[in-house]
Amino acid sequence: MDTQDARGRHPIGLLGLGVYLPERVMTNDEWSEHVDTSDEWIVARTGIRTRRIAGDEESTADLALAAARAALADGAFEPADIDEIVLATDTPEVFAPDTAAYVQARLGVGNIPCYDLAGSGCAGFVLALDIARSRALANGRRMLVIGVELITRLMNWKDRNTCVLFGDAAGAAVVGRGPGAVEILAATAGTDGTKSDILGLETGGTRQPVTMERVRQGLHKNLVMDGREVFRQAVHRMSAASLEVVSTAGVSMDDVALVVPHQANLRILNAVAARLGLSDERVFINVQKYGNTGSASVPVALWEARDVGLIKPGDLVLLTAFGAGFHWAAVLLRF
Ligand SMILES: CC(C)(COP(=O)(O)OP(=O)(O)OC[C@H]1O[C@@H](n2cnc3c(N)ncnc32)[C@H](O)[C@@H]1OP(=O)(O)O)[C@@H](O)C(=O)NCCC(=O)NCCS
Repeated sequence: MDTQDARGRHPIGLLGLGVYLPERVMTNDEWSEHVDTSDEWIVARTGIRTRRIAGDEESTADLALAAARAALADGAFEPADIDEIVLATDTPEVFAPDTAAYVQARLGVGNIPCYDLAGSGCAGFVLALDIARSRALANGRRMLVIGVELITRLMNWKDRNTCVLFGDAAGAAVVGRGPGAVEILAATAGTDGTKSDILGLETGGTRQPVTMERVRQGLHKNLVMDGREVFRQAVHRMSAASLEVVSTAGVSMDDVALVVPHQANLRILNAVAARLGLSDERVFINVQKYGNTGSASVPVALWEARDVGLIKPGDLVLLTAFGAGFHWAAVLLRF
C-alpha cells in the first residue's frame, strides 16, 4: 500500500527483505550427544525442535553478505543503490574492525559509511531499523540493515543451560523512501543498563581479557544468563514496547494484523500473546525451526511470515524484540 505524504513523497520503509539460513539442521536429539538433555525437555521448556548451524568454512560476514544480497535482489536493487550499512550482531567477524566493514568491501558498494550495532543483543535488528529510518528521514539515504548471528561458534557446547537455545542465521532489509515501501509508521526503543550483567558474553573485553587460565576454564565461550529473570523481562519489555509503539502510531492493538516477535522461546511468545490479548494466529512463531537466532530472528521471522502469505497489503505488522543490555525495541509497519 503506497500512501504519499502532502508533498507527494513516498513513505520511508522496507524496500527489500532477505535472509540466509545455513544448510545444516541440528535436531534436539543431536544435542543429547553433547550434553545431558533430551528432545522432551527442550521442546517442553522452549518449543525448539531444530536449529541451523553454520558450516566450518562460514563466518559472520558470509552469512550477512548472503542475506544482504537476497534483500537487494528482493527489492531489485544493485549494490550501488545503497548509501549506508548498519549491521547488528553480538558475534562479529573479528573483535575490530566491525563486521559491517567486511560486508561493505565484499558487497561492492563503494566507500559508503558503515557501522555495527555491536552487542545490541537480540533487539539489534529492530533498533537498527529505527536508526535507518531516521537516517533516511534526515538525509534521504537508502540504508542496508542487517541482523546476523553465528552464535553456535562462540557459545559453550557443554553448557546445557544455554547451548540448546540458539541457532545461526542472518536477515537483511533495504530501508529508504520509495514506491511500494512497507511503511515504518512508528518505532520505539529502550535500555535498562542496570541489568547488563544478567545476560551476555563477558570474557574478551577489558574487564575480563582472554587469558590461558580463562580459556582453560572455558570462560571465553561462557554465555552468562539468568534464564528466569531474562524470561520475565522479555515478556514484560516486549509487551510494553508493543503497546507503546501502537500508541505512538495512534492505532490500537486490535488494528494490528500480525505481531512478529523476537523468537526466544515459545513460552515467552505465548506469554506476550496472552498479555497483549492476541489469539494464536496473530502472533508469528518459527522458533521451533530455528531456535533463538539473536538479531537475525526478527528479520527471518518477518521474511517467513511474508513468504508463507500471512501478510496482506494494508496489514499492520508489529515487530518487537528484547535482548542483552537489556535492550528492547518495537516497530510498527504497514504493508
Ligand atoms: C532457559 C530456560 C528455557 C529454562 O527454563 P526454566 O523452566 O526456567 O528451567 P529452570 O531454570 O527452572 O531449570 C530447571 C532444571 O532444568 C535443568 N536444565 C537446564 N537446561 C537443561 C537442558 N538443556 N536439558 C535438561 N535439563 C536442563 C536445570 O539444570 C534445572 O535443573 P535443577 O532443577 O536440577 O537445577 C528459560 O528460563 C528461558 O527460556 N529463559 C529465557 C532464555 C532466553 O530467551 N535467553 C535469550 C534471551 S534474548
